[in-house]
Amino acid sequence: MRYSIVEREDANLIRASSDSGLEASFSEMGAAIVEIRYAGAPMTIAPKDLAFFNSPKDAYFGKTVGRIAGRIENSSLVVDGKTYQLEANEGLTSLHGGKNGISNRRFKSSIKDSDRGLEIIFIYDSPDGEAGYPGEVALTVTYILDKKIPSLRVEYKGVSTTKTWLSLTNHSYFNLGGNNHVGESSLYVRASNVVEMKNGLIPTKNSIPVNGSLDLRHGKFIKEGAMDPKLVATRAHGYDHCFLLDEVEEEKKHAAVLSNASYCMELFTDYKALVVYSDNYPTEGMLLTNGHKEIIHSGIALEAENRPLDYSEMELGPDKPYRHYIEYVFSKKKGR
Ligand code: BGC
Repeated sequence: MRYSIVEREDANLIRASSDSGLEASFSEMGAAIVEIRYAGAPMTIAPKDLAFFNSPKDAYFGKTVGRIAGRIENSSLVVDGKTYQLEANEGLTSLHGGKNGISNRRFKSSIKDSDRGLEIIFIYDSPDGEAGYPGEVALTVTYILDKKIPSLRVEYKGVSTTKTWLSLTNHSYFNLGGNNHVGESSLYVRASNVVEMKNGLIPTKNSIPVNGSLDLRHGKFIKEGAMDPKLVATRAHGYDHCFLLDEVEEEKKHAAVLSNASYCMELFTDYKALVVYSDNYPTEGMLLTNGHKEIIHSGIALEAENRPLDYSEMELGPDKPYRHYIEYVFSKKKGR
């Protein structure tokens, strides 16, 4: 296991690699994944310009998103009969924790070589009232690079002395092997239902069975869904849906599998929902870490999170820490 730290004024950068062929770099800004590479090839995309990556206009590439990922209608968090006014950053809506959300906070980093692998640990104390959210929360985001297999695991922990709510995710955009776009990659998602959305991509408590291009239970080429005229005609403009993961007996089961002719990535998680967003509103022409310029469908974000509006799942408090994980496992296709 190897690592190095690049000290920067805006946020330090940590580069890590394991003998499995997996390399990753992380930023203290938003406890983010800047890039993942496997067998020498890029597996993710992000803005090449680190100053932009670290700025609030980053479009969430690789960032830890929260306190509550996704959209909150009228920026009103209504739980237990109380209303908390959150920061709006998309018209009246609060998206991904607001403009002072976790993705824009500088975490403190440390590195530990443990039995589990190389651990890159980020901590941040989010003050009471930050971005409108109640309660002071001590957040820990730990990335673990396995020593033997090409696996990167993210663990989220939140501790608060008062009752509050979290739904943290990672907003990396995947593109396995450095292609111009992900249209030719296929995606499997273990979900028979998606969250029904209102105007403005606002999630509701209702779910609807998957069909057509939203039925990913047997895998589909991303272009089939992202370019499905029915989806393109909507505000989503491609994949921008919250899939509700089917329950399974096995403790560790794929939530999603992304693959193309050369590489495969399996995503495991204990979260119950997965937002799939096919980069439908790119910053056209922006230079990316994989050498291409950003175009529509340059990458695909697979955001495991708590089920929207399910505040009992999101709750943390004095006797109830918040804990979740997401694990990405990479492999090469046979013969490559
Ligand atoms: C959302 C998209 C949004 C994007 C911003 C995704 O998680 O689902 O609607 O445009 O984040 O980067």
